[in-house]
This record gives sequence, structure tokens and C-alpha cells, in this order.
Amino acid sequence: MYIETMGCQMNKLDSQLIKGRLERLGYTFCEKAEKAGVIIFNTCSVRQHAEDKVISKIGQLRRRQQQQNNLILAVVGCMAQRLGNELLENYPQVDIVCSPGRIHQLAELIRQARQDRQPQLALNDKAELHDLEELDAARHDSDTDCPFMAYVRVMRGCNKFCSYCVVPHVRGGEISRPPEHILEESRRLVNNGVKEITLLGQTVNSYKYANGDKTIGLADVLEMLHEIPGLRRLRFVTSYPRDFDASILRAMAEMPKVCEYLHIPAQSGSDKILKAMNRRYTAAQYFDLIDRARQIVPGIAVAGDFIVGFPGEADEDFEASCNLLRDVRYKNCFIFKYSPRPGTRADDKLADSIPDEIKKQRNRILLDLQSKISLEENQKFIGRTVEILVEGPSKYPHLDNNKNENESPEKQPDKNMIPSPSSVADSLQLVGRSRGDHIVVLQGAPALIGQIIPVTISRASALTLFARMV
Ligand code: 5AD
Ligand code: SF4
Repeated sequence: MYIETMGCQMNKLDSQLIKGRLERLGYTFCEKAEKAGVIIFNTCSVRQHAEDKVISKIGQLRRRQQQQNNLILAVVGCMAQRLGNELLENYPQVDIVCSPGRIHQLAELIRQARQDRQPQLALNDKAELHDLEELDAARHDSDTDCPFMAYVRVMRGCNKFCSYCVVPHVRGGEISRPPEHILEESRRLVNNGVKEITLLGQTVNSYKYANGDKTIGLADVLEMLHEIPGLRRLRFVTSYPRDFDASILRAMAEMPKVCEYLHIPAQSGSDKILKAMNRRYTAAQYFDLIDRARQIVPGIAVAGDFIVGFPGEADEDFEASCNLLRDVRYKNCFIFKYSPRPGTRADDKLADSIPDEIKKQRNRILLDLQSKISLEENQKFIGRTVEILVEGPSKYPHLDNNKNENESPEKQPDKNMIPSPSSVADSLQLVGRSRGDHIVVLQGAPALIGQIIPVTISRASALTLFARMV
């Protein structure tokens, strides 16, 4: 079997769980699609570009399916839910279309597809909580891509209905998982060697679970997990800038395992555009929240997202986004060109009025602005000692001089990157993350992989800190 994952951390986690579940049923996974008898694409619908890539991959498999007619091609995830039967009708090489809410049934769908030679369609219905809970609850301690870092889902879906966003349409409404399940799953992962847990939710700070007459919030979950012996770091992504309870910031300030890091997208700095996006806050309220976070948690690292070229975004609206980005001084920012998504309010009601050239230009301007800010912020670390979790060998060579540095962003490590014992004595370029989620590159022994160590920052670029062992 072969599985390829597009999209967000939620999808990465889903793929880890799918893989673990299928492996326990006796299937084996390989690294190359060419060798596999079952190919699974776990897809994303957030922008058209993400869907186009999958369509092209599906297209490439047409010939192969004709030659190897026992090949099973499964399209799972957000795009499966969004396009549903259309995928089966337009692409006869697709055997299975399975939504994010039904992936716990994938093994059965594969069996059926093999047996009946009929396409299988499994879309979200009003799935019961226990159904959806099944996948996470059945997770084994080793279902992670990396032995010392794991994602744990705290909630599914989203209720916010930002006008541009496909997520509530494909992943359904918010469902918070029972806290005892989150705790139990985290405990097992830590017992198996996990040191850092990232809690996942599309709007993770909206986590709410009614327990008798008490409502459990994200701060309570952080407090529960904080007590797990052996767990060293806790993070949570992604935060929604409204209803941001001060208890979460206090948890971050007071509990040493909770890392000083917030990913909290603003999307725009213009109140007019924020209103059209249905974000339900103003730029000033957003800025106040960041200000409050910095007062309660000194040194907190803040990352953000912006969308440029939303319908009706005039020059002054874009200027307001530039100003917000400048005022907040993010650690890093993801900047996207608006992509109309069928079925969303923005697409139904508003014309995609900003020409692609302008979107590209605005994208470039914001990226350049952020790059300057990231560099200035990163340079403040020079000479300071920070704690990093060493994730693995660097995927790209980072030259230790200012000019020819390869600035490719590092990705999550995977198990396969851990060097064999025979190379353990050698020193190599390693990559780790600070508590504020800065990417830190250093030269060191492979035995450091998986360890949390102090390092001294000697140099900085916009995307990377370079360090020496203390
Ligand atoms: N077009 C462009 N970017 C989008 N995002 C979500 N929907 C769209 C869209 N239709 C961005 C937002 C979000 C991130 C995951 O993707 O910035 O925070
Ligand atoms: Fe993409 Fe959103 Fe689905 Fe994640 S939840 S895979 S970002 S559409």
C-alpha cells in the first residue's frame, strides 16, 4: 500500500491513523506508489491548487489501472467529501471515495472494492460521535510518523463558517472529544516514548466538553496532560482569535510544559474585509488579543495566516493587512491568494474580483515584509541559549555562511530518517525546534535525535536559526 498526504496537520494525523489501522490488519506500506497494489490519496480542498494536484495524480494513474486491473485507487479526505460521486463518474480509475468522517471504514471499503469490483462511495452522514471516535480511540501507541512527537486530536470539524472556507462543509460541525480519551491516548503515546504532543483542532481554543454541570475547556485539557510524567512539551494549533479565553494564556504562562507559541491567523487587517470574511472580530480586537498574549506570556512566538485578494479587497484594505502584519511582528506568516471554493458563502455571493496578477503582487509584498520582520526577530536570538527538541537530520544542506544558504523550510521528521546505528558516531547537520517553534539547525551527533537540549544561537536567517551546542 502507498499513502500520500496533502493538506493540514489534521490530514497528517488521519493518514497516520489510517496507516496504523491497515498495518494491523496485515497490509504493508511502501514508499513508492509504483510498487503498491493499493494507492491512497488523502486530499485537501482548502484551495483549488491543492485539488488540481490530486486530479493530475489521478490522471497519471489511468494507464496503470488499465494495465494492472487489480490496482485499487482510494481518494480520501476533504476533496473526497467535496466532490463525492463526481470523482467516480469522471475518473473510472478511482475505486474508493471516502470522506474524513468515514476513514475508520477504509479497510472494509478496500475489501468490498476488491470483492465486488464496484466503486465504493462513503461520504459524511450524520455520523455519531462514537463512530468518529473509533479511529482515534483505536490508535496504537506507535501510530505516529516520529517516535518522539505526536499529534493528538482534541476536536473535529468547525462551526465558524468563515465565508471563504470549505472546512465546515467538508469536515462538518465541531465535535469535542471526551477529555478522558484525549488523556488516555496521550498517556499511551508518552509511555511509548513521545516527548512532545501537539493538540489539534481546526479552532482548537473552542474546545468545550460538557461533563455533568462542568464545562471542560482547552486550559483544563492542558492542565490534565501537563501531569503526564515523561511528557516534556505541549502545543496546540490552530487558534481562532475570538473567544480566546485568558485561562489558556495563563496555562501557557504557568505550566512549564506548555510551549510559548500561538498560531492564530488574522486573515486580513481590514475591518471591511474581516466582516465580509465573517471573522467576527476587528483588526483592533485582534491586535489587543496579541498584546494581551504578550503581556501574560512574555516572549511568546506568534505565527499567522493572511489571505490576499479576497473579493472587494481595495488597495487600502491590503494596506491595512500590511499594517497589521507590521504591528504584530509575527515570527512567521503563511500568506495565501484567495481561491474561490464552491459552496462557500464568498463564492456564492461575491465575484472573485481581484485579478490574479494583483493577488500575486500582494502576496509577494506581504511575503517580503514578513521576511524582513522574521529576519529582524530571529537576529534578536543571536547569543541567546534556547531549548530545542532535535527532530532529525536536516533534509536540506544549510551552508554556514550568509550567502548561499538553502532556505527550504524543514518539514516534520519521519521515522525513516533516523540514521542506522552504524552512522551513530558521525556528526551531521541536525534540525530541531525551539519552544516557540523556530527551526534550529546545528551540527551534532545523531544520538541527539529525540533529545531536548540547550543550544546557543550563533546566526539567523529569516526562516532558520543556526546554533552551536552549549
Ligand atoms: N483561499 C485561500 N486561502 C484559504 N485559506 C482557507 N480558505 C482559503 C481560500 N478559500 C487559508 C486560511 C487558513 C489556511 C489554512 O488556509 O488562511 O488559515
Ligand atoms: Fe485542507 Fe482544511 Fe481539509 Fe485540512 S481540513 S485537509 S486544510 S480542507
